[in-house]
Amino acid sequence: MQEINITVNSKEYTLTVPPYMSLLEMLREKLNLTGSKEGCGNGECGACTVLFDGEPVRSCLVLAVEADKSEVTTIEGLSNPDGTNPIQEAFIAEDAVQCGYCTPGFVMAVQALLNRTSEPTDEDIKEALGGHLCRCTGYEAIYRAIKKLVK
Ligand code: FES
Ligand code: FES
Repeated sequence: MQEINITVNSKEYTLTVPPYMSLLEMLREKLNLTGSKEGCGNGECGACTVLFDGEPVRSCLVLAVEADKSEVTTIEGLSNPDGTNPIQEAFIAEDAVQCGYCTPGFVMAVQALLNRTSEPTDEDIKEALGGHLCRCTGYEAIYRAIKKLVK
């Protein structure tokens, strides 16, 4: 077991974690932040995406011990007091959510993109969504939601 100090959604934590625990497992099991989802568990679907020191990462591929002294933002950290944020509202307005399993990962990827630029090009959007899989909605609605958001 190893002790780590980590800031998650602006709160500081000291946690004891096993060396094999992923950041995703730590968020879900130790902090009860279950918005980040496990889809594939091996870096291929994007459902577990969080911001790690400001950069989007697949938290299933990061060990919790690697996150020592880092700052992590999860989907819960983006919510307004009423529970949604403008990215989520755009997804809802464009019917870009069905089962919702992929949605936190998409939203985190869009947030990372908007942190870099408020006027992303079509190429920027496609690149930001690369490797994010959705099995139900299809990508048109998701793309439309992002375009509407950045107009
Ligand atoms: S669960 Fe991490 S990329 Fe699929
Ligand atoms: S809405 Fe179901 S996987 Fe994307």
